[in-house]
Amino acid sequence: MMRVLVTGGAGYIGSVVAEELLSDGHEVVVYDNLAKGRRDAVPPGATFVHGDLGDGQLLRETLRRSRSEAVVHMAADSLVGESVVDPAKYYANNVGNGLALLDAMKELEIGRLVFSSTVAVHGEPKKLPIEETAPTDPVNPYGETKLAFERALRWYSGAYGIHSVSLRYFNAAGASERSGERHDPETHLIPLVLQAAAGERPAITVFGDDYKTRDGTCIRDYIHVIDLARAHVLALGACDGARAYNLGCGGDGTTVMEVIDAAREVTGRKIDVEVGPRRPGDPARLVASFARAERDLGWRPALADIRGIVESAWRFAESRR
Ligand SMILES: NC(=O)c1ccc[n+]([C@@H]2O[C@H](COP(=O)([O-])OP(=O)(O)OC[C@H]3O[C@@H](n4cnc5c(N)ncnc54)[C@H](O)[C@@H]3O)[C@@H](O)[C@H]2O)c1
Repeated sequence: MMRVLVTGGAGYIGSVVAEELLSDGHEVVVYDNLAKGRRDAVPPGATFVHGDLGDGQLLRETLRRSRSEAVVHMAADSLVGESVVDPAKYYANNVGNGLALLDAMKELEIGRLVFSSTVAVHGEPKKLPIEETAPTDPVNPYGETKLAFERALRWYSGAYGIHSVSLRYFNAAGASERSGERHDPETHLIPLVLQAAAGERPAITVFGDDYKTRDGTCIRDYIHVIDLARAHVLALGACDGARAYNLGCGGDGTTVMEVIDAAREVTGRKIDVEVGPRRPGDPARLVASFARAERDLGWRPALADIRGIVESAWRFAESRR
């Protein structure tokens, strides 16, 4: 049992991480400024503190009062497009506020951190599935700022004894019984497809159907949010030095059309598709390897079936209507 502070624990993935920690018997404090998160996403067993990472005094007081022994760091800005037009926001929050968190941990001698990173730190892949040994060369400020924080962690372990695991993954998807995806604006494929199924948007736009893939649409890597939450919990027990693990769905990934077909099947609704032009910089296929995570953490995706992922997301969306 550990006392764990979850930054960004009112967000989509963080709230499910908090649930998984609680169900394993850990004590959880959620620290979130609610810029994107929702108070009602925080599981009832967790203590909620409404605070910003930039508020060093409140952060220290929270860590001290809760006697936190570890931190799971999920709080970040994470919209790729926004990061390109407003990189300063991403440096300030993902790097600046991240370093402020590390300062507080250093001061309070908290030596364990799990960091939610992204496979975007690797940039355009030369080889698939993407392994940890692939070069890191991000192509947008979002990936760059996540990499900058990962790099800081390398130095902080030796110098200050803050041991960490960075988890890099592509697309969190699906929902737990009580928490699911509610981004605003929503940019992720599965909730957008389900909005089309629910009649909340007229159609779903597919950006390019002439890629060299099995049905011409892009292949992406979706991981069930509960599987991701399990990875964060397992990583807490493996903080030694500064490690990084890629997490992937296994197999060949899922095409955009396969997601839409799964949604048609699950919802029994009509979903209209419009084919638009390719988006610049969209690779045909993106999948990550999870071999190292399986070897060291004993993690593999247990809920990888795309139909099951879409079904859980639909159940959650229906429960909110
Ligand atoms: N969603 C994905 O597919 C995905 C993929 C890879 C990595 N990630 C990473 O996982 C993490 C969580 O993503 P998510 O999709 O749940 O996003 P989210 O926006 O739902 O959650 C982020 C939470 O952090 C909070 N937050 C942001 N800045 C803060 C600050 N300065 N102080 C306090 N709270 C702050 C927000 O209010 C929000 O509740 C992020 O770090 C993201 O980069 C997400």
